[in-house]
Formats: sequence, C-alpha cells, structure tokens
Amino acid sequence: MSGGGETWTSTRSGALVGELRVPGDKSISHRAVMFASLADGVSRISGFLEGEDTRATARAFAAMGVTIEQSSDSERIVHGVGLHGLSAPSAAIDCGNAGTGMRLLTGILAGQAFDSTLTGDESLSRRPMRRVIDPLSRMGACIDAEDGGLPPLRIHGGRSLTGIDYALPVASAQVKSALLLAGLYANGETTVREPHPTRDYTERMLAAFGWPVAFSAGIAKVSGGGHLRATNVVVPADFSSAAFFLVAASIVPGSDLLLREVGINPRRTGLLDALKLMGADIVAERPRELGGEAVADLRVRHAPLRGIAVPEALVPDMIDEFPILFVAAAAATGTTLVTGAAELRVKESDRIAVMAQGLRTLGVAIQETPDGAVIEGGALGGGAVDSVGDHRCAMGFAVAGLIADGEVRIRDCANVATSFPGFVELANGCGFALRR
Ligand code: S3P
Repeated sequence: MSGGGETWTSTRSGALVGELRVPGDKSISHRAVMFASLADGVSRISGFLEGEDTRATARAFAAMGVTIEQSSDSERIVHGVGLHGLSAPSAAIDCGNAGTGMRLLTGILAGQAFDSTLTGDESLSRRPMRRVIDPLSRMGACIDAEDGGLPPLRIHGGRSLTGIDYALPVASAQVKSALLLAGLYANGETTVREPHPTRDYTERMLAAFGWPVAFSAGIAKVSGGGHLRATNVVVPADFSSAAFFLVAASIVPGSDLLLREVGINPRRTGLLDALKLMGADIVAERPRELGGEAVADLRVRHAPLRGIAVPEALVPDMIDEFPILFVAAAAATGTTLVTGAAELRVKESDRIAVMAQGLRTLGVAIQETPDGAVIEGGALGGGAVDSVGDHRCAMGFAVAGLIADGEVRIRDCANVATSFPGFVELANGCGFALRR
C-alpha cells in the first residue's frame, strides 16, 4: 500500500497570498455523470472535476453504452440513455479509489437487467460494503462480495426491487444515495432516515432532473417508475479541496487568500464552524447561487488558532476535513479533542491512525482514541511521514510542512490526483514551498 507513488517535500513558506479557484466538487461531479447518463436527453456538465475518481465514474457509464464527450477541460456533454437504457459492460467496472463511485453505482446496478462486477484499488478493496449490500438486499437485490463484505462486488441483474423504509445505522450520504438510486428502479416508495443529516446532493439533483423527491434534513423519499429529464449541471469548487487552503492561510503568518466560487452547502461546511470556534478569520464574500447550489468566495487571513473540543454535531458536516483539522489543531495553542468520528477509520485510509502517526513523527503530542484523538498544539518539526496513498492525508501533511522547522517529506502522494489534480501547482502559485 504505502511506498508506491510519489514523494513530496514541503517546507516552511512565507505568507500565502492571492486568489484561486480549486477544482470542481467531487460529490457533485460523480452524481452529475450518473444522473445525466440515466436521463432522457443531452446534459452539459460544467466545472466537472477532472480527478481520477470522477473520471472512473464517467468511464463506467461509457462502458455501459453512454456517449460522454469531453467538450473542453472540465466540461462533459452526456448523451443520456434513459433509466433503462444502460447496456451490460463487457468487463468488470474499475471504480479506482472512489467509495462514492462504487457505493452509488451499486445502487444503480442493483436495478439493471444485466449482471455486473465492481472492482477498486487496494484502498477501496478494504472498505466496508455491507452497509450498502444489506439494505439493497432487503430491497430484493442480489450482490456477492468477498469475505467481510469487501469488493469486488458481483451484482446480479434482473431482480425486481421493492422500496423499503430504512434507518441508516451510521450517517452516510453514500449509503443514502445508493438506496435512493435503487429506489428509482423499485416498486413503491423508498424512505431513508439518517441519524444526522448528510450531504443532500442526490436529493437535490434528483429534483433538478425532474424526479419527484421529498426530502428534509435527515429524511428522503422517492418512488420508482419515473423518468429523469436531461438538464445542465454547473459544479461549484469543492469545499473539501478549499479546506487545505483555509487552514494553510490561517496558520501561516501574514497570509490573505481568496478562494473563489466555493460550494458552501451547510452539510459540507462543518470545518468553517470548527475553525471559527478556533479563532480563524474567514469571511464568506458574495454569497450567491451557482447551478442551484450555494457558493461564496471565501476570504481567509492568518489568525492565531486555539484548541477546541470539536462539537460532535459538526462531525458529519466535516467528515472529509479531519486530516486538515488535525493539522490546524497541531498548529493551535492548547488541546483539541475530536470525538464521535469513528467513521474516519474506514475512509480511504484509517485517517485517525495515519494522521496521528505522521503528526507524531513531526513532534506533535497526539493520542488516538477509538473515535477520535486528543491533539496538543505546539511547534512542528521536520521528518518523513507516510500518507499511505490517502489524498487528503497527503495534502494535510503538505500544509503541516508550511510551519515545520525542517523539511516534511511525504510518501505516496500520487492519489492526490483522485480529488485535486493540479494541487502542487496551485499551492505553489499562492506561496507554498512544495516539491515533488
Ligand atoms: C460522500 C459521502 C461521504 C464522504 C465522501 C463523499 C458522497 O462518505 O466522506 O468523501 O459524495 O456522498 P460517507 O457516506 O461514507 O460518509
């Protein structure tokens, strides 16, 4: 797992200044390709994330007979084939590193007339799939997995699905979305209840593509038997990619960055609330709508941070931001306590363990707990850390290097291209000192 890929070196930088737009939102890009492929008619996706994860999803639909043109960088024209128009892929579909791709595709493929197989890279092959297999099986799907509910997944087609009323045991937008997508193919109503509201892009995009969907925070319902109507999708900049710059500028003295057109759907911006509690100076300028999603330009200036107990209610709204939150905590004064975040152990890596080990190497006093960590802020030193191929851990360590007394060498960074192609160039353009 680790050892492959590329090594980066991040060193102390001067102030970070300038304006930038990070690439398109990963969650929205995945869904846009899926919905556009299943719609009747032609949809244009602008601001599509040219990352490996989302490209793998586009390739999956191309392999099932959907014509997807790359009209320009970050734009796709998708010739939808309709809900029942996919054809059997001639080989297994490789979802790469993408949990979202695999889990949402499982929901769609459960409703097809043909058999299919989903595979993934080493990291994805270790991620739990029972959470989608079990409820989909209750709907009538037939899905085989490896021992322990791991990929590859073999999905048997030709099953008749029936809607269920399902309470998710853990808050997960991926599981919710897989069930709603299967619900499009099911007889009757599918209801998903969440222990805490999660990102609602599937629900919002269903509505944009003309499918009746009832949803409010924590509950969503669809009924089968309709049509998706092609529509154009404009993808905002990904808050989770902006997050690295929000923390970087907060911790490097003299910094002043403007991050343009960032999606600020409240189900994604828990880190903003956490950073503000820590004393960060971040202002959402020109809040507006872009393609039906709330966006703003985020201005972030350096400010001394102090440790906090991260409110557990924020955890689902910042679930992808813990690697960088750990770095903010290491740079803060005092203690930061993270609890209620056991899900971090089943992300692209065990993010609690990977960040704790790396930050400890850099001299940070950090103690792991089963569902979080206790992090003492203080000075960071240099050292060699391993991202174990987790894109967000790699970028988190790159930010840590900006304030370290010594070089931070980061192993296995190639997977940053899954979510943030061009990170090194964009980061160096605003003042990072990051070498490959
Ligand atoms: C995502 C949901 C989250 C998140 C992931 C993207 C989505 O996963 O961590 O990066 O697009 O629905 P979970 O549903 O497993 O929490």
